[in-house]
Amino acid sequence: MNPVDIISKYYPVGSDAYHILVTHSRSVTEKAVNLARLHPEMELDIPFIEEAAMLHDIGIFLCNAPEIACYGTTEYICHGYLGADLMRKEGFPRHALVCERHTGTGITLEMIEDRHLPLPHREMMPVSLEEQLICFADKFYSKTKLDKEKPVEKVKQSLAKYGEDTVIRFDNWCKLFLGE
Ligand SMILES: [Fe+2]
Repeated sequence: MNPVDIISKYYPVGSDAYHILVTHSRSVTEKAVNLARLHPEMELDIPFIEEAAMLHDIGIFLCNAPEIACYGTTEYICHGYLGADLMRKEGFPRHALVCERHTGTGITLEMIEDRHLPLPHREMMPVSLEEQLICFADKFYSKTKLDKEKPVEKVKQSLAKYGEDTVIRFDNWCKLFLGE
């Protein structure tokens, strides 16, 4: 499978949204693969990480986020599960789980219910190590400042608004994947 071929089906090549998505996804992929190579003991599926990290945000065009050239109708938080629906339709259910479970440090069913989030009522937490690693790597890159990797402290600041549990999960990943 070539992830860029799938992206090109939904994003006109050369459009702003294509450029933003592909640039961001390449940064996330590179970070995730580099971290995976640092941890041979985890026996991560690196070819899968390369594909799924490139596709994790494929749902953004369905959302209303003009600042990243996306002119869909749903709220931005929906991009994960909508991308997952799309990947299931493409025949890649394992990649779909990465899309669905990468928002923040994952979204629990409890968060969806308590905060009345516009999402299907199910657990959307990353489970496999590959899902966790891609979700983690994604937190270092925004789609508005494409050229910059955020330092750990900056990531934590931006996650704080989602609550303490989110920051704790990120800290645990720092220990697991960065040894910090
Ligand atoms: Fe992302």
